Order: sequence, then C-alpha cells, then structure tokens
Amino acid sequence: MKELIQKLVETTGPSGYEDQIRDLVKNQISKFSKDIKVDPMGNLIVRMGAKKPGGSRIMIAAHMDEIGIIVTHVDDNGFLRFTTIGGVRAANCIGGRVKFLNGHSGVIYMEKMESADRVPSFEQLYIDCGYTSAKECPIKVGDIASFDRPFVDLGKRLVAKAMDDRIGVAVLVEVMRQLKNTPNEVFFVFSTQEEVGIRGATTSAFGIDPEIGLSVDVTPTGDTPKSMKMAVSLGNGPAIKVRDSGMLSDPRLVRHLVKIAEEKKLPYQLEVLEMGTTDARAIQLTRSGVPAGCVSIPCRYVHSPSEMVDMDDVENAVKLILAFLSEPIEL
Ligand code: CO
Ligand code: ZN
Repeated sequence: MKELIQKLVETTGPSGYEDQIRDLVKNQISKFSKDIKVDPMGNLIVRMGAKKPGGSRIMIAAHMDEIGIIVTHVDDNGFLRFTTIGGVRAANCIGGRVKFLNGHSGVIYMEKMESADRVPSFEQLYIDCGYTSAKECPIKVGDIASFDRPFVDLGKRLVAKAMDDRIGVAVLVEVMRQLKNTPNEVFFVFSTQEEVGIRGATTSAFGIDPEIGLSVDVTPTGDTPKSMKMAVSLGNGPAIKVRDSGMLSDPRLVRHLVKIAEEKKLPYQLEVLEMGTTDARAIQLTRSGVPAGCVSIPCRYVHSPSEMVDMDDVENAVKLILAFLSEPIEL
C-alpha cells in the first residue's frame, strides 16, 4: 500500500485541476468495477455491488484535490505574487517549493520583515522561479501550482504533502480491492474541489442520491508539543467523527461504526474537531438530507508540506470501512 500512497501524494492536483490525479486513480481502480464515470465537476464515481434485501445505497467519498497557490501578478523582475487555493498558511510557505502544472518550479520567500518573530502575511510573500524579467518568465497570471516535497517513509509513519486527502483516496482504493461481497450498492466518489468548499461532493451527492453517506478524510491531532487540546493521537486508531465545525455526524452512524470497531477488535478514537469539515457535510445536506458520518485518518501538520500519518491507522481504517460496507446497515 505504501507504493500506492507514494504515487498518490507525489501527483499534482490542486482544487479544480485534478486531471492527473484522477487519471492515476482511474488506472488503479478500473480492474475492480466496470461502472465508472466522471461527472461534469470532475468527480470520479465508481459503483460496486447491487442492492440486496436489507442493503442500502451508500456514497463514500475521499477528495482527490490538494491545497495550492494561484499566480495573481508577475513583476518586471519576474517575481510572482500569489493567492491561495484552500487553507494554506503563510508560515508553512516560506522556503518551500512549488511545482506548476506546466512543470516549472519555484521557491517561496518573503520581503524583509520589520520584526523577525512576526509571521508574514501573504502580501509579503513572493515566488522566485529563477527568471530575471516578466518577459522571460513562462509563468503567467492564473497559473496554478501545488507544493513540492518528496514522500518520506519513516517506517511506521509516512510524511508527504497532500496526505490530505490522498491517504483517504488510498484507503478507498484498498477497500475496493478487498470488497468481495456486499448487500449494498456502493458509490465510491473520488471528489474534486473539497479544499475550496466541498464543491465536488455537493454535486455528486445530489446526483447519486444516497441513503447513507460517509467521507474518509484526515483529522488533526492533539499529541504534539503544546498543540491544541484534542483527544486524537497519531497511531491510536482511525477516528470516528462525532462533530466538526460543519456537521454533527448522524449519531446512529457513529454508534454503528463504534459497534463494528468493537466487534472486530479494531482500535478507534472519537473525533470532536473544532475547525474544518469534510465531504460528509455536503452528503448530509443534499436533497432532503442523508444520515452521514466520517472516518478520519489522524494526521499531524495538516496543510503543511510535511503531513504525517501512521500506517497502523491507515490499515485499521481500511478494515473498519470494509466491515461497514460488507454488511446491511440498520440505523
Ligand atoms: Co484539507
Ligand atoms: Zn481533506
């Protein structure tokens, strides 16, 4: 699975520009189902299983897109100014590298600061692509880049950019590989534009009209030096979301997931997140409403170029979701 994770995280795919990552995922999953489509928003939707007595129509989503930047201005000396695609923090940018969709690379740095311990604002950051004039610079206003940082295997723990949410994508691909029998009609959705406001999940949930919804995404942890208070730790199991700032998971679904984890003796944690949300919110609020929840992969340093996950959590998330999809769900 590590090999697949590396391929996924090293592929470029900022929100709205998911072509490359979608092609890669499509390649990986085409052997599991013949029922594959790409909708107008670019979501990759794969159907597996047919509804048998007691079964449900389930939508399960992981987003393909990642955070990135978009060029707003090129000055006479070829320095680029930019704005963000999704929740990028200025402090995580300085000294980092970006890779443009057209293959060019650049370095992010900052203007001279009045005080060394102040965090700069985005207006004070620029990108240097190694050119000396606007004329010579092949990057133009509107060009898009993602962060560039290789995958690192630390053994039990893995580090890369875009673990949010390529690790969720990897979990779904692995679940599809192992899913043999299900009484449910399952729609796997590899969604687009999550980082800019769960847009792909909004339209795909409407189209699928599911009876039950689940997203698979990352959640930050509270286990690093002087981190925020949060009862989720890396390596303590997948987190069953109870709440984030965009949704309250359906309590019946939370109970059902907890029951499965306990029956299968899988480690799990309960997640109460004070900021952010996932594709599950869009599923929950589609049409006349859908019971929805989320299985989160604990992840340190979310939205930095070095996001860290634990392989045990990843494998246990696969087991939990596989068990969830393999049985009838009675809420
Ligand atoms: Co994110
Ligand atoms: Zn995410």
